[in-house]
Amino acid sequence: MKIKWLGHSCFIIEGNDRVIIDPYITGNPSATVKVEDIDVDIVAVTHAHGDHFGDTIEIAKNARLVAMYEIVQYAAKYGIEGEGINIGGSIKIGKTEIAMTTAFHSSGFPMADFKFCGATAAGLVIKSGKTVYHAGDTSLFSDMKLIGELYEPDVALLPIGGRFTMDARQAAMAAEWIKAKITIPMHYNTWDVIKQDANEFKRMAEERGAKVVILNPGEEVEI
Ligand code: NI
Ligand code: MN
Repeated sequence: MKIKWLGHSCFIIEGNDRVIIDPYITGNPSATVKVEDIDVDIVAVTHAHGDHFGDTIEIAKNARLVAMYEIVQYAAKYGIEGEGINIGGSIKIGKTEIAMTTAFHSSGFPMADFKFCGATAAGLVIKSGKTVYHAGDTSLFSDMKLIGELYEPDVALLPIGGRFTMDARQAAMAAEWIKAKITIPMHYNTWDVIKQDANEFKRMAEERGAKVVILNPGEEVEI
């Protein structure tokens, strides 16, 4: 499996299928690709905030959307077909299984015309050959131990930027609890308000026994 970071919380996973998570490209200062160049089978979204829902409507025209039930209902207004799931549940699409986990965070749509919010924010576990846990935006919570035990992820993608999510110290504890084979930091340095030293996160997480791989936007790692 290849995991490519497109900046912020957006990753493309190439496993049994090609999955983009939180496709925030337009307006993302660290994005390294154009929306029209993205070719994926599945679009997976953790919550409705603009820096995660992003270009979902555009990209999901040629892919299957998997997200919280309410987010899928919202996208349906724009003609997008999707599969709604909810926390604790999962769905199999193609050769990929996607499960939804808890995250502690809000999930309001940024659009001016919204009639409902995207319910609650979530994390996603994507099993497509290897297993990847994308924590979405969240605080630290001790059930990350449960997520580690239940899904045994090969890779954990964790926000470290602080202010809206965990910071580096909290994410280092999360990495210890989840026990993924590798942990990749995300959701930092996109803007000054979430400025964070990824090397400091790596040092703290590795002191706790985790293995951290720091990517630059546009870089990928093979696992
Ligand atoms: Ni958010
Ligand atoms: Mn965010």
